[in-house]
Amino acid sequence: MERHTDRLIYLDNAATTAAKPPEVARAVAEAIVGGAGNADRGGLGASLEASRTIFKARQKIARLFGCPQTEQTAFTANSTESLNMAIQGLLRPGDHVITTVMEHNSVLRPLRRMEEQGVRLTVLPVHPGVDWQIPAEAFEAAVCADTRMIVCTHAANLTGDPVDIEAVGKICRRRGILFVLDASQTAGVLDIDMERMNIDVVCFTGHKSLMGPQGTGGLCVRKGVEIRPLLEGGTGIRTYDPRQPLVMPTALEAGTLNGHGLAGLLAALEWREKEGKTAAEREISLAEQFYRGIRELPGVTVYGNFRRRQRAPIVAMNLYGYDSALVAEELYGRFGIQTRAGGHCAPLYHRALGTERQGAVRFSFSCFNTEEEAAEAVRAVSVLSEEG
Ligand code: ALA
Repeated sequence: MERHTDRLIYLDNAATTAAKPPEVARAVAEAIVGGAGNADRGGLGASLEASRTIFKARQKIARLFGCPQTEQTAFTANSTESLNMAIQGLLRPGDHVITTVMEHNSVLRPLRRMEEQGVRLTVLPVHPGVDWQIPAEAFEAAVCADTRMIVCTHAANLTGDPVDIEAVGKICRRRGILFVLDASQTAGVLDIDMERMNIDVVCFTGHKSLMGPQGTGGLCVRKGVEIRPLLEGGTGIRTYDPRQPLVMPTALEAGTLNGHGLAGLLAALEWREKEGKTAAEREISLAEQFYRGIRELPGVTVYGNFRRRQRAPIVAMNLYGYDSALVAEELYGRFGIQTRAGGHCAPLYHRALGTERQGAVRFSFSCFNTEEEAAEAVRAVSVLSEEG
């Protein structure tokens, strides 16, 4: 699609944040130019330096998610890899697992694979147009004697609507169930505290609101929860052990880590710490501004419950009966506004919303967007709405 304006307003930050703090690119470049070695593969010079950088990133992630032991954080390439590790590495045939219709395919597809291997699955519905919420009682009611895990998103990647993870965590603690959280859309935006919220595994990605490079992600695992490794290979320790060592984080980190990317993630985490809560607040406020601007426009349907402020900075909408891809192309071509359209890898949620064919146009905000950009997005939708 050709863009007929020089300007680009990037509002697809739920897919990946395009603008990063300059420190992030600098750190990646310095790691490469400076000749970063392979972390934990030898204890000398460049290798040791890379290990130190990654250890610092591990510490910061553990602190961010309230994980008491630094070594219980393992790095992966993204949330998908982390979720596959947690789901496939914890469930066994005969287990029952509870999830929700709001999930991304990175939860649903590994679960379907486990279903083929004898895991029983309950998928909780949401009530679009009513409260857009899955009540804690629904989770509780689905628990049975063989329930081993609840795995769910913290906030839906399609609409930004949150799950009440504190309530889910309490149920899990009381009923002795594992709680695996997909924090793809909320890491860096909403509070996550494994201890206080009784979360057993937090799966995160580095390239969205955490502001790190693509190819960085990981999982924090409660001590005592043992995930069977999905990958086996070089670890830099216990070379003569024929099996993958089960000590964390090595157990889940076979092969060379993305040391260059993790140097960037460390810089992003340091930047986030300096910003405090202001970056997250800004993202949420911009989404609210945009929502308020478009919600009453003729032909506009917005999906989600915006009465709650604790949500991901996402606004999903449709215009009349138009295919979402056509609307996104108009926004891009005429107004230079980049959104995401289509199915968003959330098949069950689209089915629940009745938008399987139309998809949805998703606007998602970052702390580097401005009020002027949000206002311009409102203006663009108003123009399209008027044109009918
Ligand atoms: N999971 C990402 C999204 O929601 C890519 O767009």
